[in-house]
Amino acid sequence: MAYQPSPGRYSFMEYRRCGNSGLKLPALSLGLWHNFGRQDDYERCKSILHTAFDCGITHVDLANNYGPPAGSAEETFGKILKDDFKAYRDEMIISTKAGWPMWPGPYGDFGSKKYLMASLDQSLKRTGLNYFDIFYHHRPDPETPIEETMATLHQIVQQGKALYVGISSYSPEQTKEAIKVLNYLGTPMLIHQPKFSMLVRDAEKGLLDTLDKSGVGCITFSSLAQGILTDRYLNGIPEDSRAASRRGNGALDANVITEELIGRIQQLNGLAEGRGQTLAQMALAWVLKDKRITSVIIGASKPEQVLDSAQCLRNYNFSEDELRQIDAILG
Ligand SMILES: NC(=O)c1ccc[n+]([C@@H]2O[C@H](COP(=O)([O-])OP(=O)(O)OC[C@H]3O[C@@H](n4cnc5c(N)ncnc54)[C@H](OP(=O)(O)O)[C@@H]3O)[C@@H](O)[C@H]2O)c1
Repeated sequence: MAYQPSPGRYSFMEYRRCGNSGLKLPALSLGLWHNFGRQDDYERCKSILHTAFDCGITHVDLANNYGPPAGSAEETFGKILKDDFKAYRDEMIISTKAGWPMWPGPYGDFGSKKYLMASLDQSLKRTGLNYFDIFYHHRPDPETPIEETMATLHQIVQQGKALYVGISSYSPEQTKEAIKVLNYLGTPMLIHQPKFSMLVRDAEKGLLDTLDKSGVGCITFSSLAQGILTDRYLNGIPEDSRAASRRGNGALDANVITEELIGRIQQLNGLAEGRGQTLAQMALAWVLKDKRITSVIIGASKPEQVLDSAQCLRNYNFSEDELRQIDAILG
């Protein structure tokens, strides 16, 4: 039977304005880095996307290299879009990125105009979209002048291939420079996508303030630390978990999950229980407590995880004491 979105899909989600732009994003977005590759079960991929949209998660985050193999997450999404979401395209914000290796030779990586233009055209073809809502430069390029990369983002908007542009994993200094160039060109930067969680807090060292002062939104990734900040690894490494999957492409490695780390995670889990939350909900709430955060991109291998994570919105307030305890547990 054809997918019918829930009529109540806008009743629960919170939508936050993205910097000074006109665009609002759901507090939770869905990322397709893993679990949407060619090897993954298509019906399950569909079910995760249906559940997310039914929760009011209107934003789907992609990149050219998501899979595996690279490109296959865009293909999977394109198929589901055609099957189930065609009528809802205007209710969705779909992003993609380029910046990591995609094809051999000097034109399939980093931030040249040659690479970004070709990659975006490939992403449009794989997804079957006419345009992306957001196109990102995925990581800073130490060699290409930032003026060339930003002028390419500007041109992409001028050409109508993306409505907005952003950057990912740029330092505060690189971000300031990129914002300056884009402002000069007349295409303001919409958003920055950093890694940010209770375990990885670099964004607190200048980046969040820079974005806030510049009116640029912030959407975080790996805020569940690829599953470490959930109940997944409390009692060992489950067979169906990402850490056991050997998927490659940056996926969580089982070696990272040490006894010492799990000891801390168990303490965090106790704190979450005391708040009446699952650990995943507390980890997401911890990020969303900061009003400078526009959205958190969640990953999920099952629709139930999306439902569980969405409940973080019920309580993202923390007492001073709870915050102190989290800091003490994580050292
Ligand atoms: N810009 C960048 O460079 C960059 C880099 C990385 C990611 N991203 C984006 O951010 C998205 C999210 O990153 P991520 O995949 O690392 O996400 P994450 O949200 O930190 O981790 C997702 C994993 O956590 C587990 N999980 C999720 N919800 C759960 C719940 N409620 N209860 C128990 N376990 C739960 C699942 O693990 P199992 O699979 O083991 O079930 C899931 O696959 C990506 O898809 C991508 O769009 C961007």
